[in-house]
Amino acid sequence: MKGNHGNPYLPYPVEIQKVTVENADRDIKTFKLAFLNKEHEEAFQYLPGQFAELSIFGKGESPIGIASSPTEEGYLLFTVKRMGVVTSDLHNSEEGRIIGVRGPLGKSYPLDQIEGKNVLIVGGGFAFTTLRSAIRYLLAPENRGRINNLTCIYGARSPGELIYKEELKEWEERDDIEMYVTVDKGDESWTGREGFVPTVLKEVAPSSESAICLVCGPPIMLKFTFPVLSDLGFPPENIVVSLEMRMKCGIGKCGRCNIGNLYVCKDGPVFTLEQLQALPAEY
Ligand SMILES: Cc1cc2nc3c(=O)[nH]c(=O)nc-3n(C[C@H](O)[C@H](O)[C@H](O)COP(=O)(O)OP(=O)(O)OC[C@H]3O[C@@H](n4cnc5c(N)ncnc54)[C@H](O)[C@@H]3O)c2cc1C
Ligand code: FES
Repeated sequence: MKGNHGNPYLPYPVEIQKVTVENADRDIKTFKLAFLNKEHEEAFQYLPGQFAELSIFGKGESPIGIASSPTEEGYLLFTVKRMGVVTSDLHNSEEGRIIGVRGPLGKSYPLDQIEGKNVLIVGGGFAFTTLRSAIRYLLAPENRGRINNLTCIYGARSPGELIYKEELKEWEERDDIEMYVTVDKGDESWTGREGFVPTVLKEVAPSSESAICLVCGPPIMLKFTFPVLSDLGFPPENIVVSLEMRMKCGIGKCGRCNIGNLYVCKDGPVFTLEQLQALPAEY
């Protein structure tokens, strides 16, 4: 982190420019944030998969995945579920409010290893945020030619729980990404696919040949998705998972986020399945 006088605990001030309600229960919102200071914006160089600590004065801070892509210039996006102290206060924000952003933190998806590969993205629920960042990044004209096929399987429990609905529709109409959007159970208005993410993955059966898979979702989805990927021939080193653990400092100092000898904040939150398989089963 630069522009913060070498102090990794110092947040940059940002303005909430826009708030978008994402789901039917109205407990997931996307916040569009703009830096107040150009020097801070230039210092905040990130890649898909990284996160930041969002801070609210007098309340605290929360680690949140960066949902925007660095190819979208001039703002950051964070999609936040209302949980407790910090996220509820954030949800009550009006546009124009000033909050803090500390980061970027953690490791990104291994975008330096995707050259010429097929990329499969598998997401579930509102954990789709950093995968959205990856998709936007890969679809950018300067990056799309770097990879071969781009396939995305994304699911939620119900149609109302799907996030980024407008964007999903846009992606479904493009011919440079194969989109499979599914819900566990549809409602009367739903004309799309029904079925759990691992089941749809099995049906679509994307080739594991020269392919890398990025996965993020609730633990139950991960549990049933890994064996399907394995059956499709994806080796654990080509399956990349983003974890969301309890954290505090976000910079490997406080010891609140370790699994075995790894700190999720600093060594992750992005790991290969191969790395996770070598750890105690705490994730
Ligand atoms: C790397 C990383 C990325 C994340 N990305 C996102 C994101 O993109 N969007 C998003 O909405 N959330 C994300 N989270 C989870 C988010 O950090 C927590 O929901 C948030 O910190 C809760 O803060 P709070 O002050 O509102 O809740 P608190 O008042 O601290 O707690 C309220 C409730 O939330 C539970 N809780 C607190 N922290 C977590 C956690 N890490 N995971 C699950 N439950 C928790 C507590 O047990 C309690 O029940 C991420 C977490 C990590 C570590
Ligand atoms: S959150 Fe402090 S060491 Fe990871």
